[in-house]
Amino acid sequence: MPALVLLGAQWGDEGKGKATDLLGGSVDYVVRYQGGNNAGHTVVVGDQKYALHLLPSGILSPGCTPVIGNGVVVDPSVLLSELSGLNERGVDTSKLLISGNAHIITPYNVTVDKVTERFLGKRKIGTTGRGIGPTYADKINRVGIRVQDLYDESILTQKVEAALDAKNQLLTKLYNRRAIAVDQVVEELLDYAGKLAPYVTDTVLVLNQALEENKVVLFEGGQGTLLDIDHGTYPFVTSSNPTAGGACTGAGVGPTKISRVIGILKAYTTRVGSGPFPTELFDEDGDALRRIGGERGVTTGRDRRCGWFDAVIARYATRVNGLTDFFLTKLDVLTGWEQIPVCVAYEIDGKRVEELPYSQSDFHHAKPVYETLPGWSEDITKAKSFSDLPKNAQAYVKALEEMSGAPISAIGVGPGRDETIEINSFL
Ligand code: GDP
Ligand code: IMO
Ligand code: MG
Repeated sequence: MPALVLLGAQWGDEGKGKATDLLGGSVDYVVRYQGGNNAGHTVVVGDQKYALHLLPSGILSPGCTPVIGNGVVVDPSVLLSELSGLNERGVDTSKLLISGNAHIITPYNVTVDKVTERFLGKRKIGTTGRGIGPTYADKINRVGIRVQDLYDESILTQKVEAALDAKNQLLTKLYNRRAIAVDQVVEELLDYAGKLAPYVTDTVLVLNQALEENKVVLFEGGQGTLLDIDHGTYPFVTSSNPTAGGACTGAGVGPTKISRVIGILKAYTTRVGSGPFPTELFDEDGDALRRIGGERGVTTGRDRRCGWFDAVIARYATRVNGLTDFFLTKLDVLTGWEQIPVCVAYEIDGKRVEELPYSQSDFHHAKPVYETLPGWSEDITKAKSFSDLPKNAQAYVKALEEMSGAPISAIGVGPGRDETIEINSFL
């Protein structure tokens, strides 16, 4: 069973980094297939805490080859500083592979992201400001710069010229900004070329050959299902496909190769940025979830919006990703509540709705219909098996599993590698 996908089942920050790191010791390759440094994946190993943005979480497992696939957008300055930061902490990053087809986040993409958000005013998406959307827009508009372009100065110059032609008009005439000079951008990009060269390769070939040899490949999603450009809460989404299909296009591996799709699911719900969120709490419970769960963005430092678990979303994630398993995270955060509400359906304009409505307007009106489950007060952070959990915590997990449509194969009871209850093996 060589290829697994591990992805966010909600709005991101479900604990993908921890889950990937946990499996990293047993897999040969960990591959990021979409997104860029909008991601913030926290991994805690012993007393060391790592915040990874662009690098796959497998980078912390010595036997594992980390891969940045063709579907990722790469900010070279961020990548190089992330690498040197890890090197300074004694992490060997020499095995990293980067697809020559991955697109580059240029300085002008970052500028466009920021000015566009500013001009959207209260309609803003609340992006991470890292240039993600504009870089994917350039890719689709066929004016993107790819990693391989760094190795042909004349092509690179032509492409930067083509990209800046329209953008400079926009920046100067609409946004009142200064034009960006082609030479300056080219010079900066060329400076990265040599530094990235040792890592750049045909990752599609490498990964398919590895799969032929029965090596185990883990695809690590960034963001989450509800932030997917096609399947998320558009327009309040990111500009890529974190859902399972994205692993195929973003890494160049056929769907027949993928045997397991694991959805990382937080025991409650969080969201960063704008957009609808039916179970969002504006009261002390919301504050308590944020405080106890440490719900503050790893990338932008923004407070995360918090709410109760939403089973409608979990069922939707099962469907659009073909999930085979869930990894339920942060169950420990719910310790201490006497009663825990869980959203089982929505009420939309007076009608009960069991599944996520396709209509954006309906979703904006959705009110959660709650069922309340009994809580527990015992510390669960030391639990090693399902039977170590208090009866009510067991019942909470079982209820979520039943509502969500796929088995819960692991449970997180703390941020550390060993703070995990494994129920069914992933490998
Ligand atoms: P990602 O973007 O999906 O990788 O998630 P983030 O790293 O942005 O946010 C998840 C946060 O929860 C991180 O600080 C993790 O260290 C932490 N975490 C992960 N799993 C657990 C868990 O089971 N319990 C607790 N208490 N924290 C967890
Ligand atoms: P990880 O991988 C949570 C959100 C942003 C914004 C929207 C679009 O750590 O789970 P973008 O900069 O991507 O154009 O912003 O998507 N967003 C995330 N929210 N976790 C993430 O990554 C996110 N990456 C982007 O807050 O609402
Ligand atoms: Mg995160």
